[in-house]
Amino acid sequence: NQRKNLEENAKDQQLEPFRVENEGTRMTTNQGLRVSNDEDSLKAGVRGPTIMEDFHLREKITHFDHERIPERVVHARGFAAHGEFELYESMAEYTKAKFLQDPKKKTPVFVRFSTVVGSLGSMDTARDVRGFATKFYTDEGNYDLVGNNIPVFFIQDAIKFPDLIHAVKPEPHNDMPQAASAHDTFWDFVANNQEIAHMVMWVMSDRAIPRSFRMMEGFGVHTFRFVNDKGRSRFVKFHWKPVLGVHSLVWDEAQIIAGKDPDFQRRDLWEAIEIGDYPEFELAVQILEPEDEFKFDFDILDATKLWPEEIVPVKKIGKMTLNRNVDNVFAETEQVAFHPGSVVPGIDFTNDPLLQGRLFSYLDTQLIRLGGPNFAEIPINRPICPVHNNQRNGFSRQTINLGRVSYHKNSLANNTPATSTAREGGYVHYEEKVEGRITRARSKSFDDHFSQARLFWNSMSPPEKQHIIEAFSFEVGKVKSKSVRQQVVDMFVHVDKAMATTVADNVGVNRPTGEQSKVTASSPALSQANTIKLPY
Ligand code: HEM
Repeated sequence: NQRKNLEENAKDQQLEPFRVENEGTRMTTNQGLRVSNDEDSLKAGVRGPTIMEDFHLREKITHFDHERIPERVVHARGFAAHGEFELYESMAEYTKAKFLQDPKKKTPVFVRFSTVVGSLGSMDTARDVRGFATKFYTDEGNYDLVGNNIPVFFIQDAIKFPDLIHAVKPEPHNDMPQAASAHDTFWDFVANNQEIAHMVMWVMSDRAIPRSFRMMEGFGVHTFRFVNDKGRSRFVKFHWKPVLGVHSLVWDEAQIIAGKDPDFQRRDLWEAIEIGDYPEFELAVQILEPEDEFKFDFDILDATKLWPEEIVPVKKIGKMTLNRNVDNVFAETEQVAFHPGSVVPGIDFTNDPLLQGRLFSYLDTQLIRLGGPNFAEIPINRPICPVHNNQRNGFSRQTINLGRVSYHKNSLANNTPATSTAREGGYVHYEEKVEGRITRARSKSFDDHFSQARLFWNSMSPPEKQHIIEAFSFEVGKVKSKSVRQQVVDMFVHVDKAMATTVADNVGVNRPTGEQSKVTASSPALSQANTIKLPY
């Protein structure tokens, strides 16, 4: 059934020649030589030493010795599936992206869900952010929407990302704890980098223990741009809405499942697809006119703030259906390389300093993770449209480039790849006007750490609030340093005094003396609402 679904899927057709069926064949070496014995190495006498001449033994062992590649520095544990995306209505008014023009068009996709902190072998139900990365194989090249299941992020500037990850990963002297936020360095980072407050509220909520990958939202997090064919740009935030709704585990369930079935979420995804109960997600956008850029009391370039949905409505524009499991987890799920910088004409960036750093990081890390500059040739990463340029050589080059000229602008060949104008589909960066003095500084509103954190808390139902208090108590309660525990409750008093006081009692520190912050949102709609509208 899964195969039938994808008969017309251009990515599936492209992958077909790479699939190798081993059953019913004869064993060969990598050189194609038939193997006569795969159980006894070549020895000098029945009980004698193994001899170097045994090329089969050496090839087999050597290949095995090199089977592992580095796990991703973050989001190591993930699971993926193929599918397709269909648009509800043309988005031509907003963007010239070809895959967002024609509702009849189906675009192949590959989606990898992941946890952030745990290593490759950690458990699925850890309290953690989930990655939600989608590769659209469009006719204009690959477009990667590399998002998370939480709409905001821990930090505001990419320069802090190595610090954040060093703090949240297991502590270096004893490599503990695995896949949990219950440790001193994480909470020490929290208390000393308070822009994290809003994200930590989400991470302590039920959102960080989803019931299933099929039942969680996805968010592009950053502010991006849509650009239409007239060159008009609007700001856009991307969302994925699961058709099954958002559902979470409770913490006791998550812990029991982690023990009994650490593969719970990958199994759930795999089995749903196997029985034809295909996971569906609607793609939605929030669009902001350029003249509204400064309408809010927060900066739209600040990834720790979301755009309240009652002010900037969420418009559903299409649906993605995941309808085929991978054939081979290593070849596809592990070797896939997502990159927020993979865009198509009609989608562009903003100056969000977190996004700008990401644009550097992904390609850089993949150069080492996937062994050199040719990983775009790995089948799962190949675009479905042709690739032509003057890049050559490097480890494991697959393409056999013909001709002697491999440089742009030449007189010896007249058919080397030509560039394209915007009209011909060439990617032209949005001509944003930029001016300013070179500085290491940020907008003042980046320093409002608690308004949205507090709005989030106010938006929770009583059981959800109880779960947040229990999560704080469990996680912070495991912190050995009393000073760090005290700093954390002193910090979260700015979100809610009663909440922080209860946590203080539960984790054995003094009740916080500070006061909860006023919601400083000057936007009338926000201040009046005093809550954030959360879907489902
Ligand atoms: C994976 C860096 C922020 C979502 C990664 C990887 C790196 C990285 C190095 C591993 C990539 C690989 O090995 O292929 C960064 C940096 C960030 C940042 C430097 C901030 C400055 C974010 C944010 C999001 C995000 C804000 C969500 C909007 C993801 C996802 C993956 C990932 C989903 C896993 C992709 C996959 O499944 O292969 N990130 N990241 N990251 N990141 Fe980020």
